[in-house]
Amino acid sequence: MDPLAPPDLDGDTRLLVLTGAGVSAESGIPTFRDANGLWEQHRVEDVASPEGFAADPALVWRFYSLRREAAAQIVPNAGHAALADVERRLGDRFLLATQNVDGLHRVAGSERLVEMHGNLFTSRCAGCDRPPFEDRVAHHGTLPRCDRCGGLLRPHIVWFGEALDPAVLARIDAFIAGCKGKRWIFLAAGTSGAVYPAAGLVDRCRRLGAETVLVNLEAPENVRSFGRVVTGRSGDVLPRLLR
Ligand SMILES: NC(=O)c1ccc[n+]([C@@H]2O[C@H](COP(=O)([O-])OP(=O)(O)OC[C@H]3O[C@@H](n4cnc5c(N)ncnc54)[C@H](O)[C@@H]3O)[C@@H](O)[C@H]2O)c1
Ligand SMILES: [Zn+2]
Repeated sequence: MDPLAPPDLDGDTRLLVLTGAGVSAESGIPTFRDANGLWEQHRVEDVASPEGFAADPALVWRFYSLRREAAAQIVPNAGHAALADVERRLGDRFLLATQNVDGLHRVAGSERLVEMHGNLFTSRCAGCDRPPFEDRVAHHGTLPRCDRCGGLLRPHIVWFGEALDPAVLARIDAFIAGCKGKRWIFLAAGTSGAVYPAAGLVDRCRRLGAETVLVNLEAPENVRSFGRVVTGRSGDVLPRLLR
């Protein structure tokens, strides 16, 4: 069988996609693994945990400000575009759940999108319940403060040790519930299968009857959970697989 033979997406088939850092690699955003446990020379727990933020909010804001500046220069690649295209064909039979915070899926045109780990260009108040808001500013100098309560602002990112927003999980659950009794496909791309709960999605979807497909540069930890594995770069593979 042609390893790039497209799955049958006609008729009533649903498609749930999970993406990770690998999908943005060809746009020039380094994946987590590339960094050898360090993230831009910092220990991840220092810059991406609530404890790190409490200890040194200025360091955390310098780190995320650099990431904002870098990501603002970057454009989506052919993998992002292929996912936006297939959504235009499937409409509400499609949902994209991403672990990426770089916002590139939305720039590429994805609309039925769940950003599981938050968004680099969104901030929220660490002190009050003001809703998260768009914030593209690089806060290198003074610490940004909430104009409602004066508390510290923080990046709207799910850090290590933090729970995912229940609304995010509910949206994925609702999509999966809607697949009951239908033909459906779970497609993961560019994700190492190491970060839960995203990594557990494949087993859950397979148990519930989904066809499961993985597109990744190499075989990740949970590779055996997938019915079909296509190794390669997502920018090459996704446009051919979803043609
Ligand atoms: N772009 C981003 O927003 C970004 C970048 C780094 C880390 N993160 C965060 O770090 C965590 C890491 O989990 P993860 O699974 O997303 O990333 P990961 O770095 O753990 O895994 C990335 C996977 O992508 C594969 N890969 C690399 N280049 C690829 C390519 N061109 N095509 C296809 N696959 C490729 C790698 O082999 C690896 O298995 C997530 O929580 C995520 O929020 C986000
Ligand atoms: Zn506030």
